[in-house]
Amino acid sequence: MSLISILKKKNNITLFTTPSHSGSLCIYHKFYQWYRSDISEIDALDPEKALEKAECKAAKIYNTKLTKFLTNGSTSGILAAVLTCCNAGDKILIWDKAHPCHKNGAKLAGAEIVEYQIQYNEVWGIFECISPYEIETLIKKHTPKAIIITSPSYEGIVSDIKEISNICKKYGTFLIVDEAHGALYPFSELLPQSAIPYADFTVQSLHKTAGGINPTALIHSNCELDVTKALNMINTTSPSYPMLATIEANINYLKSNKGKNKIETLIRQIDSIKKTLHNIEFYGDDPTKLLIKKDGLTGFELSEILYNKFNIEDERTNEKSTMLLTGLGTTEAKLYRLKKALIKIDKLK
Ligand SMILES: Cc1ncc(COP(=O)(O)O)c(C=O)c1O
Repeated sequence: MSLISILKKKNNITLFTTPSHSGSLCIYHKFYQWYRSDISEIDALDPEKALEKAECKAAKIYNTKLTKFLTNGSTSGILAAVLTCCNAGDKILIWDKAHPCHKNGAKLAGAEIVEYQIQYNEVWGIFECISPYEIETLIKKHTPKAIIITSPSYEGIVSDIKEISNICKKYGTFLIVDEAHGALYPFSELLPQSAIPYADFTVQSLHKTAGGINPTALIHSNCELDVTKALNMINTTSPSYPMLATIEANINYLKSNKGKNKIETLIRQIDSIKKTLHNIEFYGDDPTKLLIKKDGLTGFELSEILYNKFNIEDERTNEKSTMLLTGLGTTEAKLYRLKKALIKIDKLK
């Protein structure tokens, strides 16, 4: 039985177990259905077994050795991957501007952090990808046990993970890819190649672009190392089955024709917006992220105009450009509002 169907099924047993709300005392009524579905891991319907099955099914979908559901974000996936690859004293290469979880993983493992830098793009105010050549130079110099790469970056810059993985294999360095912002990549050829087939560990946030609820995520493994020990160290022993069921449903949706159509329609709609503009420029490898800039306006000014005049909030802004994030929940109506605003800004002198 799937996790989803276990939560739908009515359990007639009289519970003297955790959770103590027993699915009937609903202290915060807005989430009544959530309370109803919030069962214990030792429930008679055996949700632990159902979770195992759901993760095996996910591994088949993503073509991995192991895929695990995470309910504490990509943060927990990165921590677990680092704890799995590194012992105390091992060196790990970490981008100096990476998400804090990268260094926190190394600190928990007692690993030695070796920071690396990435080329800065002055025109767009963002960091570029890291090249396989730079990776090889870093590995030769530091002989690390592992390296973490963020790809795509927040702004949608993607590194050549296939080639980087060949280099890592050549030197026996574990490759962990933070694909937090790329959870849609395995599901459409219109998107960049996912790191999953190449990296030892790939971590993806479902909540960022793939329509998942905060903070659902996945860790995929394609190496012999077993990440479950590390996950058991950092995870609760009382998992949230409603959250885990949303992950199961989320993957089913992404894999379905409906999911693929949704992704590809979104990409086509964004593409058509780009074609109507003449003075606003776009940059980046990920078509779902609208990284924009316009001559004569700083990124901050562009962001302010969008917010103050059009009631549109961007995801991230710097001195040169601003980035609007889209994902599975971005409706046509929402894109139409953005298009109308951008056409007006495009015409500003
Ligand atoms: C590049 C990157 N990696 C990891 C994370 C952590 O992801 P989560 O919020 O799913 O824990 C973030 C969050 O913003 C991120 O931007």
